[in-house]
Amino acid sequence: MSLFITFEGGEGCGKSTQAHALYRKLRRKNLPAVLTHEPGGTTLGEQIGKMLKRKTENIHPQTELLLFAASRAQLVADVIQPALKEGKIVICDRFSHSTTAYQGYGRELDLATVQMVNNLATQYVKPNIVIFLDLSPEQGLARRGKLLDRFELQELSFHRRVRQGYLKMSAEEPDRWLVVDATLPKKKISEIIWEKVNHLLAEKGYL
Ligand code: TMP
Repeated sequence: MSLFITFEGGEGCGKSTQAHALYRKLRRKNLPAVLTHEPGGTTLGEQIGKMLKRKTENIHPQTELLLFAASRAQLVADVIQPALKEGKIVICDRFSHSTTAYQGYGRELDLATVQMVNNLATQYVKPNIVIFLDLSPEQGLARRGKLLDRFELQELSFHRRVRQGYLKMSAEEPDRWLVVDATLPKKKISEIIWEKVNHLLAEKGYL
């Protein structure tokens, strides 16, 4: 028994808030939940994440892909796989689909190569459900305010490609993806997510 839930979306979509809310709800129900995030979640991953977000850094797309993969490989081996093996419910704020969306569709790196690198980093661990909070980049970036990191500073066309990438992936695997309109009130979004997760918890034998 195990359940792996990931949250995905563009800038300012509210996924971290929803990931935290879901984690708290599971814990209140005394369910064995673990919350982590990318890039980061390990000491090494946090350092890589800081380098990747620094706006003074000139990072080539290939380097970027490999750094995200390095952070992920460490997180999968140290945190995600052990927790899943112990039967826990793992919630991860971003995972391999972020790499496909940002480095594949956004940076326009070869999608097959991105997939190969993702497989290496994840050791083929896949989320049971990907919760995608969909929002236009205009609305997402407006929510962010002025303190922008290296990704938020990318041109609008980059963010549009990222969103299109997410939409394409969700259409390709509709059973794995829950697409939620991120303009809905926070409470409503939490309810939609809970309905889906509750169903999965029952299916996996946690309830
Ligand atoms: P955050 O805003 O959720 O903390 O994520 C940090 C940034 O890193 C965000 O702009 C998305 C980007 N990112 C990628 O480009 N590729 C990846 O694989 C991951 C995990 C994040």
